Amino acid sequence: MTKRYNDYFGDFGGRYVAEVLRAPLDELEDAFLDAMDDPSFHDEFDEIASTFVGRPTPMLYAKNSSKEIGGAQIFVKLEGLANTGAHKINNAVGQILLAKRMGKRRIIAETGAGQHGVATAAVCAKMGFECTVYMGEIDITRQKPNVFWMELFGATVAPVGSGQKTLKDAVNEALRDWASSFADTHYIIGSALGPSPYPDMVREFQSVVGREARAQIEEMITARDLNLEALVACVGGGSNAIGFFEPFLETKAPRLIGVEAGGRGPEPGNHAARMKGLGRTGIVQGYKSLFLLDPDGQVQDTHSVSAGLDYPGIGPQLAALGVAGRIEFARATDSEALDALQFFAKNEGVVFALESAHGAAEAIRLARELPPTSAIVVNMSGRGDKDLFITAKQLDKERWQEFLAREAAE
Ligand SMILES: Cc1ncc(COP(=O)(O)O)c(C=O)c1O
Repeated sequence: MTKRYNDYFGDFGGRYVAEVLRAPLDELEDAFLDAMDDPSFHDEFDEIASTFVGRPTPMLYAKNSSKEIGGAQIFVKLEGLANTGAHKINNAVGQILLAKRMGKRRIIAETGAGQHGVATAAVCAKMGFECTVYMGEIDITRQKPNVFWMELFGATVAPVGSGQKTLKDAVNEALRDWASSFADTHYIIGSALGPSPYPDMVREFQSVVGREARAQIEEMITARDLNLEALVACVGGGSNAIGFFEPFLETKAPRLIGVEAGGRGPEPGNHAARMKGLGRTGIVQGYKSLFLLDPDGQVQDTHSVSAGLDYPGIGPQLAALGVAGRIEFARATDSEALDALQFFAKNEGVVFALESAHGAAEAIRLARELPPTSAIVVNMSGRGDKDLFITAKQLDKERWQEFLAREAAE
């Protein structure tokens, strides 16, 4: 077994946990390192990826959108076409295979937008594991369809009523469960954060997105004689971004741009952007990174129209690469994300998840500044079906409310 991974990324990362969680994290790290060196693990992952997840996911040339913008050519990695609608399933598959190797029979997870919960519930149904998903009460309300799917897959959705009642509180509750259940339970964290080895592990399982995207875009730009200028991805905790960027981290080009939730504006409590001076170094939920903290050092409330981007911390590797300058960060507001979602829906016939639409907004902005010989790839980390109840209320309020009232009366 070789140790090829780091506990720290620059100043960030680490394993700041109560003594009781050291043993399960050591066990997990051993299982992960063993698996990475075992070709049969990779074969099983690839088999499930192709027959159950639907990999490889396509790369779309957004020709109509690019023409209308009149700048760079935009390509879209359609990760949202993966089974259960988002990139989250790649990590869920990898981690459930590790759980199987460790002989665990029960899975717990946290979820924000519900995509990680749905992905975890789906792989548990497929692999025959018992599954409990912790979810903030606010997220349960705004992502009701995903609660329905999780329960349909046989999972128990455990409501979390503490704190802001969103993703960070769900993580706290899952960690609490794990501290007393790790003998037979594996905790599948849904983003590239948490105590080591989670950030490394989640990046590894999500890097399939970047590897596919690199091969696809190389072929597409060669055919069109374009220069790959930038990759763009939204950043909540950071799993789709770090997986998408992974094959390019060691090279100087292309530009790698992470897009955070600008929410309603830059005032504290109105957004969830942690980079560019807004976050401060802190240790929260077992790892050191940049967090949105109030003057007393307490985790601050956040806001985003997308439930998956309102987490107050950022994965430690992204934070380190941001500080080092390899990854640039931008922000898109709620309304810019909604505009981008409509733009691509009308021009390309694809619907971005609200999270991914933040990346789409930045891709549009960037394309305007670049010549038509440049190419930009944006990761559509998820598709927008899950957001119907939010998007329709925002974009077509009256008719949507009429419809809901009619449905409720039946
Ligand atoms: C579709 C989609 N994209 C992005 C995210 C943000 O997570 P991450 O930054 O880990 O990719 C989520 C989280 O729920 C999501 O559902």
